[in-house]
Amino acid sequence: MICRILLLITLTSCVCGTFVVNVTQSSYQAEENQNITLEWTFTIKKETPLTSLYILCELFPNDPNAPTLFQLHEGVEVPESQDEHFAGRVQFDKDVLREGRIRLHVSRLRTDDSGLYLCEVNTNYGWNICK
Ligand SMILES: *[C@@H]1O[C@H](CO)[C@@H](O)[C@H](O)[C@H]1NC(C)=O
Ligand SMILES: *[C@@H]1O[C@H](CO)[C@@H](O)[C@H](O)[C@H]1NC(C)=O
Repeated sequence: MICRILLLITLTSCVCGTFVVNVTQSSYQAEENQNITLEWTFTIKKETPLTSLYILCELFPNDPNAPTLFQLHEGVEVPESQDEHFAGRVQFDKDVLREGRIRLHVSRLRTDDSGLYLCEVNTNYGWNICK
C-alpha cells in the first residue's frame, strides 16, 4: 500500500535586515519511499569563507524534539548531529553551497517525514531562519 504523504515547506518571514534565507519552493508533495530534494537559498558574499558558515536544518513537528535533518559547523557537515529519524537518508550537495544554496536530497520518504521544515543560517555577516 502506498500512503500519500505531504512534505510541506511554507515560506514565512525570511527577511531580517539584508541577510535573507529563502526557499525555492514552498511545498513539496511525494509518496512513501520516493526521494525529494529540499532547497533553501541564502545571501552569500563572494569572499565568504565556507568556514564561517553554520547551518541547522530540522523537521519542525508539533512535539518539541525537532529531529535534526542536517547540520553544518564551520563549513563542515556534522553527521553525528543528525537524528536517527533521518539516518542514511539525507545527502547534502556541497557543490552548490558556494552559490548560497542548501540542497538536501532526502530518500526513502516516510509518512512521518511530513511537516514543516526549517533551516537556520548563521554567518559572520548575518543570520536568519526560513521555514
Ligand atoms: C524568495 O524566493 C521567491 C521565489 O524564488 C521569490 O519570489 C522571493 O522574491 C524571494 N524573497 C526574497 C526576500 O528574496
Ligand atoms: C533515491 O535515492 C537513493 C539514495 O540516494 C538512490 O539509491 C535511488 O536510486 C533514488 N531513487 C530514485 C527513484 O531516484
